[in-house]
Amino acid sequence: MTLLVTGGAGFIGSNFVLDWLARSDEPVVNLDLLTYAGNLRNLGPLQGDARHVFVQGDICDRALVDRLLAEHRPRALVHFAAESHVDRSILGPGAFVRTNVEGTFTLLEGARTHWSALAEAERAAFRFLHVSTDEVYGSLAPDAPAFTEAHPYEPSSPYSASKAASDHLVRAWHHTYGLPVLTTNCSNNYGPYQFPEKLIPLVIANALAGQPLPVYGDGMQVRDWLYVGDHCSAIRAVLARGGAGQTYNIGGWNEQPNIEIVHTICALLDELRPRAEGPHARLVTHVSDRPGHDRRYAIDARKIERELGWRPAETFASGIRRTVQWYLEHAGWVAEVQSGSYRDWVAANYEQRR
Ligand code: NAD
Ligand code: TYD
Repeated sequence: MTLLVTGGAGFIGSNFVLDWLARSDEPVVNLDLLTYAGNLRNLGPLQGDARHVFVQGDICDRALVDRLLAEHRPRALVHFAAESHVDRSILGPGAFVRTNVEGTFTLLEGARTHWSALAEAERAAFRFLHVSTDEVYGSLAPDAPAFTEAHPYEPSSPYSASKAASDHLVRAWHHTYGLPVLTTNCSNNYGPYQFPEKLIPLVIANALAGQPLPVYGDGMQVRDWLYVGDHCSAIRAVLARGGAGQTYNIGGWNEQPNIEIVHTICALLDELRPRAEGPHARLVTHVSDRPGHDRRYAIDARKIERELGWRPAETFASGIRRTVQWYLEHAGWVAEVQSGSYRDWVAANYEQRR
């Protein structure tokens, strides 16, 4: 038995692969293009481990996808690979349509061909697990109920629109061809190995460097935050027990405005790494807002709890403390990913917001 994982050198994918192989001897074939967001250092603990086969390649490459499926005959495909950052999708949407839509289409077609040729029992057991986001549902009014799996799709950024398109393709491949798919729509993740373009690692890294902490607009946009290890355990539960064709929302029951997240990180750093110049919160700087910025996301995660018995293990207080500690202990990892093209990104995204 083998899993084919895509995007397993990125933030969530690498956490998933590390957690998977810490719990199971089932091998993982990891297909990742190593874009700016992919980093083999995340998988350092697996060096020399024969259970992990890394393949650098593109999910849009049908011949490569076919070869990997034929060679390794995985019992499931767990699909993380994506362009994942909203601000990058605003400045350059083309890569999002290519990887998120065309890449998912390519994997679905490869998986369909592979699955159709399997023996009856293997066909019944096969799973295509598509990892998606709560952003496909669009923005919620302040007092609206949280997103259920039945919430209409109303994506508003090029990122969320490309993920919504990929979710629709996955659903159609189930309805039309019977491919046994699973879809997960998760809220904002945080934790080790997150690239410091996203809010939480960016704020930690900037605060440690004594640089401004850029808060878009009034900072009252609300997100639900989930520790990445909890997302990984939810995906394992869906893979093991989820019903073919089903969708599961995954969330942390932890809605907070961005400005509160930033202040929590500042308070933790004041405790763990006090600054001679005064509290870290002095670095908070309001900058111009993200165009089309969604005001609120909230996840109703009762279905996965009721049907699969999953609940997050971390609270936000415990998860954010572990995360800040991880970044304090991994200054070398941060320095490495902040070199090179990261600087061009910071200049492109933040200079226009001053
Ligand atoms: P990430 O940007 O950290 O990692 C993406 C990975 O995909 C990288 O390793 C990259 O090299 C790889 N990749 C990109 N294009 C590729 C291609 N064409 N072929 C092969 N590999 C390619 O992303 P992440 O935050 O780990 O997110 C993983 C998945 O989870 C994405 O599908 C994302 O939409 C979804 N998701 C993320 C969050 C979050 O908060 N980060 C929340 C919910 C859902
Ligand atoms: P982000 O981590 O980019 O995730 P997403 O856009 O997928 O939710 O952003 C989380 C929230 O933080 C979002 O409302 C935008 C905001 N944000 C800032 O205020 N400043 C920043 O520098 C970044 C990157 C994000």
